[in-house]
Amino acid sequence: MARRSTQFVCQSCGAVTAKWQGRCESCGEWNSIVEEQTAGGVGGGPGKAPRSKGRVIPLVGLTGDTKEAPRILSGLAELDRVTGGGFVRGSALLVGGDPGIGKSTLLIQAASALANLGHKTVYISGEEAVGQVRLRAERLGLAASPVALAAETSVEDILATLEAGPPPALVILDSIQTLWTEQADSPPGTVTQVRASAQAMVRYAKKHGTTLVLVGHVTKDGQIAGPRVVEHMVDAVLYFEGDGAHQYRILRSVKNRFGATDEIGVFEMTGKGLSEVANPSALFLGDRTSNAPGSAVFAGLEGSRPLLIEIQALVAQSSLGTPRRAVIGWDNARLSMILAVLEARCGVRFSQHDVYLNVAGGLKIAEPGADLAVAAALVSSLSGLALPANCVYFGEVSLSGAIRPVAQAQSRLKEAQKLGFDQAYCPDGNLKDGASGGLRVTGLPELGDFVAKLSA
Ligand code: TYD
Ligand code: MG
Repeated sequence: MARRSTQFVCQSCGAVTAKWQGRCESCGEWNSIVEEQTAGGVGGGPGKAPRSKGRVIPLVGLTGDTKEAPRILSGLAELDRVTGGGFVRGSALLVGGDPGIGKSTLLIQAASALANLGHKTVYISGEEAVGQVRLRAERLGLAASPVALAAETSVEDILATLEAGPPPALVILDSIQTLWTEQADSPPGTVTQVRASAQAMVRYAKKHGTTLVLVGHVTKDGQIAGPRVVEHMVDAVLYFEGDGAHQYRILRSVKNRFGATDEIGVFEMTGKGLSEVANPSALFLGDRTSNAPGSAVFAGLEGSRPLLIEIQALVAQSSLGTPRRAVIGWDNARLSMILAVLEARCGVRFSQHDVYLNVAGGLKIAEPGADLAVAAALVSSLSGLALPANCVYFGEVSLSGAIRPVAQAQSRLKEAQKLGFDQAYCPDGNLKDGASGGLRVTGLPELGDFVAKLSA
């Protein structure tokens, strides 16, 4: 008889302890440790199953059918870009995102696109009834596509259903937090359940060459709720993000065993579901008033894709003892650094001024290459002089005031030219790359030179 024992599992990070604690020592979360049963566990644990010898294969002997991962294109170009060129057969993906961001909408659209291409596609919802999923599909104009729908939360039932017919090309499970398996005794949504359910489903996918898409909700601090453990089990983790105030959504890959990470796909949420945005720069620059002081266009890079983004700064006389610094879409510490460099190396003073910085369109920029554009916006707002409307900026600023080169200057310049810009300020070091993309490019070694040019 399998011996029943209990263990204490942190619901935030999955760490296991022998006794209950108020705070998880592994991730520091309070009140996240819950007692869970470990009867037998998934795969039976160290039980009495007969052992069989494994087989090792030389790497060089693995050519032939594994030359290239076989992929299925979904037909949604933005989704295929993020997965690295289509869904890989037998792989598992996790799509995370805040509730209501549009995960179910995206996946029902992908499922219907694949089904229309003749691939067997199954959409299993643990959150909505079949009727609800159908209503949504009708609203999206997809009701005619041959997607198989099911409302099911038991892993054993799902596997029995799937094993009954030929294996589908794509199975979507919405969401992983609603699944439960008899293999584990804990309630649905706990780490043990989520891990055991995901394991069973991933095993099915690998065995039958089915692509498995797991949907996961994300907590407010940006982690896939509870089951971060699942991230290690799947081949790719995609995040679907956006904010309530804007219509567009960004699908971002943070882990991908079959493609590049940091790749993004841009969608727009419309009354008829998500539509793809093939030219996001035009979207983000859409309503720019180009002759206002404090606005600079940053030629950025998201994954392999160049993206033009407007940076807005407002520098205003402060009435407070400690002037205000407020940032949306960029790093607060980075703004303080740029202000300090401008003060110390270029003699531009902000100590009597409130500084507000905003990345237009609600985007979040993580790239240090935005430093130069931020500095340009700040100096322009302080001086009240608008920057040239047809100019882009990129370059990383170091504490010494030097402007460091950034990656892929050429594709940034090309994107700028495509959108009608004809002038660029960039790091001196990037001029060596050659091509100017048809723009008038000025290379800058120091931030001081740039400030002098602006005020000249
Ligand atoms: P949903 O896909 O249910 O989000 P998730 O699965 O991530 O929780 O998306 C729900 C939101 O999308 C909802 O607030 C309404 C909006 N929406 C539209 O604006 N247009 C549409 O055509 C659809 C289907 C949803
Ligand atoms: Mg949903």
